[in-house]
Amino acid sequence: MGKVAIYPGSFDPMTYGHIDIVERALEIFDKVIVAIAVNEEKRPLFTVEERLQMVKAFFKDTPKVMVDSFKGLLVDYVAKTNAVVILRGLRATSDFEYEFHMASMNRSLDTHLDTLFMMTSKDYFFVSSRTIKEVARLGGGVEGLVPDLVVRRLKQKFKLPVTKRNQIRWDD
Ligand code: PNS
Repeated sequence: MGKVAIYPGSFDPMTYGHIDIVERALEIFDKVIVAIAVNEEKRPLFTVEERLQMVKAFFKDTPKVMVDSFKGLLVDYVAKTNAVVILRGLRATSDFEYEFHMASMNRSLDTHLDTLFMMTSKDYFFVSSRTIKEVARLGGGVEGLVPDLVVRRLKQKFKLPVTKRNQIRWDD
């Protein structure tokens, strides 16, 4: 079966930063399981079904990527798979504290479980699902930062026209 890594997250929505991590992880692991957390407390923009559909569509031709969702503790989900490690991306030092706490808690819950961190590539270090949603909600362009399908889904969510917004006319 080979070495399997679990890449958990909210993926609300998936960005090219996430995709970059998965693609680089495939150089190291035989299989990557993208595990979408069902966490209604975070009040996600996209339902878990919508997030699953977007991630599955992107990786439909990549058999080494499996896409799934999970409820409850990540360590319990990992135990049901044959994954050897949790994979997380780090963009900046500001991510470190949150990630350090999460990795430490997961290791305390399951002492055999390690978290492996990969630095997000320089092209995407400023990209987060949160800022993507904010920019899209306010009508800004997020093309090139998320897959085209995600761009379309964001526009549908925020009911934005596909065409450019009207220019402000200062002489009005
Ligand atoms: O993309 P995110 O929101 O930073 O991902 C966070 C996620 C989903 C990996 C984390 O919240 C998680 O593992 N949730 C499942 C519940 C859990 O196991 N919590 C204890 C770990 S601190």
